[in-house]
Amino acid sequence: MQNLLIAGGAGFIGSNFVRYILGKYPAYRVVVYDKLTYAGNLDNLRDLEGNPRYTFIQGDIAHRQKVEQALREHKVDAILNFAAETHVDRSILDPGAFIHTDVMGTYGLLEVIKAVGVERFLQVSTDEVYGSIEQGSFKEDDPLRPTSPYAASKAAGDLLCLAYHKTYGLPILITRGSNTFGPYQYPEKVIPLFITNALEDKPLPLYGDGKQIRDRMYVEDHCAGIDLVLHKGKLGEVYNIFADNERTNIEVAELLLRLLGKPPSLIQHVTDRPAHDRRYSLSTAKIRALGFSPRAIFETALKETVEWYVQNRGWWEKIRDEKFEEYYERNYGKREILAHH
Ligand code: NAD
Ligand code: TYD
Repeated sequence: MQNLLIAGGAGFIGSNFVRYILGKYPAYRVVVYDKLTYAGNLDNLRDLEGNPRYTFIQGDIAHRQKVEQALREHKVDAILNFAAETHVDRSILDPGAFIHTDVMGTYGLLEVIKAVGVERFLQVSTDEVYGSIEQGSFKEDDPLRPTSPYAASKAAGDLLCLAYHKTYGLPILITRGSNTFGPYQYPEKVIPLFITNALEDKPLPLYGDGKQIRDRMYVEDHCAGIDLVLHKGKLGEVYNIFADNERTNIEVAELLLRLLGKPPSLIQHVTDRPAHDRRYSLSTAKIRALGFSPRAIFETALKETVEWYVQNRGWWEKIRDEKFEEYYERNYGKREILAHH
C-alpha cells in the first residue's frame, strides 16, 4: 500500500491526515480528491504545493467516472473517505446536501471500488451514528439510533459499506471517531466558533443549559487512530476512536475564555438545538487492542489550538460564513437568549 486517495482531504481532519501520513510514511503518495464545498479549502494544504508526493483533484465523490479515472491514473491502492457534509445545524436546515454526499457519495465510491478494486477502503464515520447515551458507552456492534439528518446520513453510509463488504467482498474498514478539534477546523463547529467569536468580543451562543457532554479529541489522536485502523484493522470491521476526555460544553466554553483572557459574561445561553443529543460515549477496547492510546493532554492541545486561531486570523476571516445565522433564523427561527441558568 503506497498510493492513497484521500476524499475530503481539503477539509479539517482530512487535511491534517494528509500531513500526518506524508510525514510518517516517506514512500507514500497522496491524491486529495475534494469538491471544495464551503468547508473545503486549498489554504488547508498550501504548504504541500509543489510536493511531488501530493496531487490535488477537484471533484465530487458522487461523480463516478471522475473517481474511477483518478483511481486508474494514480494507481491508487487504498481510499480513505473523509468527504462529507458535517455540520448538524446545517443538516437541520438542508438535509438534501447530506443525503447527496454522505449517502449517495458513499454509494458512488463503493460502486467504483466494486468495478476497479482497491486493497482497502476506510470510511471515516462518527460517534453520532449511535445516538445519545446517558450512562455507559457504545460498543461497535450496538444498534445505530441517529437523531439528526447528519447522523442518519452517516449511519446510512456505514450500513452501505458493511453491506458491500458482506455482499460483494469489498475491503471495507469503518472508524467512528468522536468530536475532534485542532487547527484548520471550519469556524462553525463549537470550539473554533467560540474562539473566533471571543477574539472579537462577540457572545458565545451556548445551546440550552450547556451541560451536553462530548468527548474532546485532538485531531492528531484522531489521525493516529485512523492510520492504525488503515494498517492493522480487520476488513469488514468497525472501530470506535475515542479520547476518553468527556467534557460539558459549558466547561469547554469557560476554559476557552480563560485561555483567551476574556470574561465569562461572553457566554450567552440560547435556544437549544432540536433533538440535541445529550451525551456521546464510546467504548475503546477494540481499538486499544490494536495499540491505540491517545496522547494529547486536553488543556495543552486546546491552548495550542487557541494560539493557532490567534496566529491565523486571515485563514478564518476569509472563510467564515457571516450569513449562516441569518439563514438559520429565516428558516428555523431565532435562537432566543435564555435568561436563567
Ligand atoms: P469538514 O466539513 O471540515 O470537511 C469535509 C470535506 O469534504 C471538505 O473538504 C469538503 O469540501 C469535502 N466534501 C464535501 N462534500 C463532498 C463531495 N460530495 N465530494 C467530495 N468532497 C466533498 O469535515 P471534517 O470535520 O474534517 O470531517 C471529516 C470526516 O470525519 C467526515 O466524514 C465526518 O463525518 C467525520 N468526523 C468528523 C468529526 C469532527 O469532530 N469534525 C468527528 C467524527 C467524525
Ligand atoms: P458541534 O461542534 O456542532 O458538533 P456536534 O453537534 O457534531 O457534536 O457542537 C458540539 C456541541 O456544542 C453540541 O452539543 C452543540 C453545542 N453547540 C453550542 O452550544 N453552540 C454552538 O454555537 C454550536 C455550533 C454547538
